[in-house]
Parts: sequence; structure tokens; C-alpha cells
Amino acid sequence: MLISASTNPPPFSELASYLTQLQSLDIDFIHCDIMDGHFVPATTFDHAYLPSIFRISHIPLDVHVMAENISEIYPKYMQNGVEILTIHYEAVADKEELKSILLDIKSHKIKAGLAIKPDTSFSEIKPLLEYIDVLLVMSVEPGKSGQKFIQNTISKIQEISWHRQENSLDFLIEVDGGVNDALAPKLASLGVDMVVLGAYLYNSENRALDVRKLSISK
Ligand code: DX5
Ligand code: ZN
Repeated sequence: MLISASTNPPPFSELASYLTQLQSLDIDFIHCDIMDGHFVPATTFDHAYLPSIFRISHIPLDVHVMAENISEIYPKYMQNGVEILTIHYEAVADKEELKSILLDIKSHKIKAGLAIKPDTSFSEIKPLLEYIDVLLVMSVEPGKSGQKFIQNTISKIQEISWHRQENSLDFLIEVDGGVNDALAPKLASLGVDMVVLGAYLYNSENRALDVRKLSISK
């Protein structure tokens, strides 16, 4: 599985040093968690800090925007180093507008990601699958690191994976929230392509070993 390491767990003052440590690990993406204080209560850095993250880590960026006003802000995230740009289904009320944002992201040669909160059903977003490259399934309520994986997300992931296979679709399935080494093999067996690691990696006593363990999960 692909591993995307979250910027969320360390305090902002320690982020640069955490990113430097991640550089030596076999990580595929830096998962940049962007929070605006409205869509979720917490606030983090925004687009202005992405060049620094990329300069420090040299690892492709997987940007997860948990914010309102998506149509105004998303162009600022189409930057050098950003390989995946994910916006929330729930943050854009006008679904035609959502489609055009996803198409615009793709047209800039960036993978368009759509994130869904735990209570959003898969059937609701099915009409949007042809517009996306990545479906980010949230397995905790967005907002903070260190929460417990919501077990009934498993059946939603199963449904998504079956649908993808039956219809020969090729979007990636990314799972975000509470992922650890106990869950990873199960997620991989369901067809999950990519997991976000927050607290599990940040608190690990042997990050290199733990990353290896998860990336070989089948
Ligand atoms: C939650 C964020 C996640 C989170 C992951 O709102 O989107 O990326 O930081 O952290 P863990 O793995 O600790 O749940
Ligand atoms: Zn995230």
C-alpha cells in the first residue's frame, strides 16, 4: 500500500523537524491536512506553507483541504509538488460546481481527490466517480489526529471496492483516520491503495520499521 504521512500530529513549531525525519523513510506522500476553523474547528497552515513542506521533504504532496469556500481557495493549492488535491464533497453545495472544480484540477495535471466524511454514503457520490482520481474515505470525523478508527467504515470501503471492480474503474481508494498496523492488512485486503498515517507514525518508536510493515500489507 502507498503511505501518506500526515502533517497533523506534530505541533506546527515541530513540523519542519518532523518532515526532515520523514525524508529518510520510505514514504510515498506527505498528507498535508489543511483546516480553516470553519469546516472543522481547528486551524492549520494553508497553501502558503506548501512550498516549504515540499522544499524540506522532497516528497510529493497529497493535500487534504478541510475548508469552506472551496471554489475561491482551491486554485491556490495547485502548486509545484502537489500530486493529489483533495476537497470535501460536503463543502461544496452546488454539485455542478464541484464537478467543474474537479475537472479543473485534473486539467492542471494534478490528481483530483474527493473526500467523504464517515456519515456520507457511497451511493451519494457515485455520480462523481468519473470526475475523480482519488476517493478519500474518512474513517474518523475530520478535525484532529489521534482518534479511533470508526469500524463501520469497513463496510463502506468494501462497497466502494466492489463497485470499482465491477465497473472496471480506476480511481484510488485512500483511507484517512486512525489507521495502524493492526488495521492495515484488512484495509489492503479490501483493495485500499493508500493509507494516511498520523498518530501511529508520529508516536512510533521505530518509524522505518513501521512504515515498511504497512507498505508491504497485502
Ligand atoms: C483528520 C485528518 C487526518 C488525521 C490522521 O481530520 O484528516 O489526516 O490527521 O491522523 P490519525 O492517523 O492520527 O487519525
Ligand atoms: Zn487528512
